[in-house]
Amino acid sequence: MKFKKNILCIGAGYVGGPTMAVIAAKCPDLKVNVVDVNAERIQAWNSDRLPIFEPGLLDVVREARGRNLSFSTDIAAGIREADIIFVSVNTPTKTFGHGAGMASDLQYWEKTAYEIVAHSDRAKIIVEKSTLPVRTAEAMERILQENKKGLRFEVVSNPEFLAEGTAVKDLLEPDRVLIGSRQTEEGRKAAEEIVGIFARWVPGDRIITTNLWSAELSKLVANAFLAQRISSINSISALCEKTGADVSEISYAVGSDRRIGPRFLSASIGFGGSCFKKDILNLVYIARSYGLAEVADYWQAVIRMNEYQQDRFVQTIIREMFHTVVGKKIALLGFAFKADTGDTRESPGIYVARKLLEERAILAISDPQALDNARRDLAGLAGEVDYAADPYRAADGAQALAVITEWRDFQALDYEKVFASMRKPAFVFDGRNILDHRRLFEIGFNVYPLGKPSLTHFA
Ligand code: NAD
Ligand code: UGA
Repeated sequence: MKFKKNILCIGAGYVGGPTMAVIAAKCPDLKVNVVDVNAERIQAWNSDRLPIFEPGLLDVVREARGRNLSFSTDIAAGIREADIIFVSVNTPTKTFGHGAGMASDLQYWEKTAYEIVAHSDRAKIIVEKSTLPVRTAEAMERILQENKKGLRFEVVSNPEFLAEGTAVKDLLEPDRVLIGSRQTEEGRKAAEEIVGIFARWVPGDRIITTNLWSAELSKLVANAFLAQRISSINSISALCEKTGADVSEISYAVGSDRRIGPRFLSASIGFGGSCFKKDILNLVYIARSYGLAEVADYWQAVIRMNEYQQDRFVQTIIREMFHTVVGKKIALLGFAFKADTGDTRESPGIYVARKLLEERAILAISDPQALDNARRDLAGLAGEVDYAADPYRAADGAQALAVITEWRDFQALDYEKVFASMRKPAFVFDGRNILDHRRLFEIGFNVYPLGKPSLTHFA
């Protein structure tokens, strides 16, 4: 079959894979090829054991794979054939040199620019899908336009807003699709091409076009605003614990104001995930590099509050378990950074586990999807950790349960049975406020929710 256009995506990760699968499913007349340097990942995308756990994704992949969706490691051939190239490689925080711990590490990104130049023999549209510092497109343009073949590339920014665990739904029914381009005739034409792809299934009023720098910066700002809401409510959870107020009731009361809205106001042990921290650090770095110290400090506080919240959770466990957890078994319920994903990048679970092991607790970790990643994250740490798919096994003989991830499975456990198998006095630290605290107290647990009064049997 002759396809209208060839689309390539470089980077077959959490964004590249699902995004391209949805484009292919919605546009059978476009040929979509996803390439990656990681052969193991590509092999998994070509199987029914996808490299990432994402509800509904396998159905979408199966619909298009072999028809107009392919996964491959042949990056050069992919570039040669493509009319439009999405770049969706990782852009982690730099760990070395100038800007270490703050700035974006753009080495993977830059490498793709050189590869595109090397393997192209005709003009193409290059789409920034990765999250990037504002004005990165300028650097991309400079590398691309330096080619000796006289080729002209148009760079478009199309940041991705999907959240893990709901990626398929977010892609099928996005709140908005954002497309930034140069405000020249060629730039607008390139943006129109990309609009044309999404317009197949996204209503026109949800497709926003803007200039390149606004698109790049909007992505960082959206993540910063979301994370800021979580840090705001988490800061209030600490105050609730001192005053007897209830953070869930505050979220409800405050979120009922339509100007504020109810979402992203659930207190937690802190936000995790590969992007919130990285993107805010990036924003802070950019603001500082333009001499905007107050702006940088303002956003940095969102991260400081997140670290405080994670640490506060660990300190509560140690304090309430009589100031020592040495030799005590603690079951961590969950390890993923949120429910419905196996991803553990920047999960608060990593911090909690590390700190408790330093205090010489014995850990048992149960998570329906994230145990392989948990093993990798904690490899090499001193101490005893049992990875138990079965939460009952994790709880057996433990003195405390600590809820790390809001998996629904944990709400449905038989807590009478769990209590019977545990050492007494038995504790529950609910870092997500998902359990029925009154009921657990009645069973006999000493219960420590987040931002609510504790329920204990101690005199
Ligand atoms: P990821 O690490 O899961 O995937 C990136 C992939 O790119 C990896 O498989 C890696 O092997 C590949 N890669 C790196 N350099 C390459 C090269 N030169 N050639 C070919 N392949 C290469 O990352 P991700 O979570 O998909 O994130 C990608 C980008 O999207 C990041 O900038 C991130 O900030 C952004 N983003 C992520 C999410 C999310 O939910 N994870 C959501 C929105 C935006
Ligand atoms: C987030 C954004 O929601 C996406 O729009 C964005 O595209 C993505 O980052 C990205 O750029 O990578 P994601 O990190 O996958 O998506 O998941 P979220 O649902 O945003 O949750 C992030 C963290 O915040 C999780 O640890 C979650 O448990 C926590 N959270 C969320 C809270 O603690 N409280 C809340 O009320 C909501």
